[in-house]
Amino acid sequence: MPRDYFQRSEPIPYDPEAGPLDLAFRHYRPDEVVMGRRMEDHLRFAVCWWHNFVWEGGDPFGGHTFERPWFPADTMEMARHRADEAFEMFRLLGVPFYCFHDHDIRPEGETLAKSVARLDEMADYLGEKQDASGMRLLWGTANLFSNRRFMAGASTNPDPDVYAWCAATVKACLDATHRLGGANYVLWGGREGYETLLNTDLGRELDHMGAFLSKVVDYKHKIGFRGAILIEPKPQEPTKHQYDYDVATVHGFLRRFGLEDEVKVNIEQGHAILAGHSFEHEIALASALGIFGSIDMNRNDYQSGWDTDQFPNNVPEVALAYYEILRGGGFATGGTNFDAKLRRQSLDPGDLLWAHVGGMDVCARGLKAAAAMLEDGTLERLRAERYAKWEGSDLLERPLEAIAEEAVAKGIDPQPRSGRQEMLENIVNRFV
Ligand code: GLC
Ligand code: MN
Repeated sequence: MPRDYFQRSEPIPYDPEAGPLDLAFRHYRPDEVVMGRRMEDHLRFAVCWWHNFVWEGGDPFGGHTFERPWFPADTMEMARHRADEAFEMFRLLGVPFYCFHDHDIRPEGETLAKSVARLDEMADYLGEKQDASGMRLLWGTANLFSNRRFMAGASTNPDPDVYAWCAATVKACLDATHRLGGANYVLWGGREGYETLLNTDLGRELDHMGAFLSKVVDYKHKIGFRGAILIEPKPQEPTKHQYDYDVATVHGFLRRFGLEDEVKVNIEQGHAILAGHSFEHEIALASALGIFGSIDMNRNDYQSGWDTDQFPNNVPEVALAYYEILRGGGFATGGTNFDAKLRRQSLDPGDLLWAHVGGMDVCARGLKAAAAMLEDGTLERLRAERYAKWEGSDLLERPLEAIAEEAVAKGIDPQPRSGRQEMLENIVNRFV
């Protein structure tokens, strides 16, 4: 099939002087060095397969709006055609990475064995395309939530046959990710949660989920996969109560199963907001707990209250997220995956390009602002000063009664100090 969906051959240029209707990067320049590292290596952008090449534009009130030439990709031939167009889009955008679910890249077979064989075949095809283009896989994952067999959960399903199905599917996806040199493997607990306690054995489901994750980690070591295993927290939607609610919940779960040194988190902006947190809170907490892995960049509509997965376009918000990422030392295996989709009226191939170019520019601006704030150093100096009295203190090593005795004897009289939040916010605004 001809690869002509995007109707252009030249990759999108960097041109800060480009006119408002010209498709160009104004801020993202892969080779520009920011805090000693190339921008491309800082941001590690990835395009996701599902929203761009699978989603048809449906919403709860209507079906598909997009007319992609590879729809419906229900044959292997169409799946390959779609992969050709996907890699063409990656080339035009100049992104280094992509991500997929098994379900995105291959049509499901009539049997489990057939589905696995098709996944293997498509992974070989993607491997050839990676070799030819230099593209890399940021992460692979298994879709354990769309098919009706998963409606009551994946590893937390009351039916052990579903658990076994998931084991076979995750094994196949991890094998494929490993073969493709994936930097990470993600588990988003799509339907790992419950609707009502009236039919749910909560404790048992958590035990099953922990055992499943332990098996995944064991298998990763058996095959020598060196990427990180990542859990992606989300508080609700699709289930009413998702078990991987937020970073803190996931950390507690990992500790309980002794997996806190084995598994990290993939934090999504929209999921953080749904959990009642800010994106930067979730990133900072994961860094503090030693489990920061990667991010899914997007944003939700701030009025609607559900997971709308829009492209990012708010530089100050993105800057605070990258500020926490840079403070934590930047990405290791992780990166910035655009888990974001078009609006259903954005029908044209060019809309896919504009969305990513805009998102990449917003992230580039955010990164540069974050780096400038760190290099300026005022915020970090003020933070350090706030804790300066702890220098040389031995309180943390001493027992409670010894601290109490000395506090009383010395007649300490702590004086509150301003948190200076408005001043700090004004400092941030000088950079964004
Ligand atoms: C689904 C989720 C998304 C997640 C992805 C990977 O598409 O909506 O947030 O990142 O699966 O599991
Ligand atoms: Mn996501």
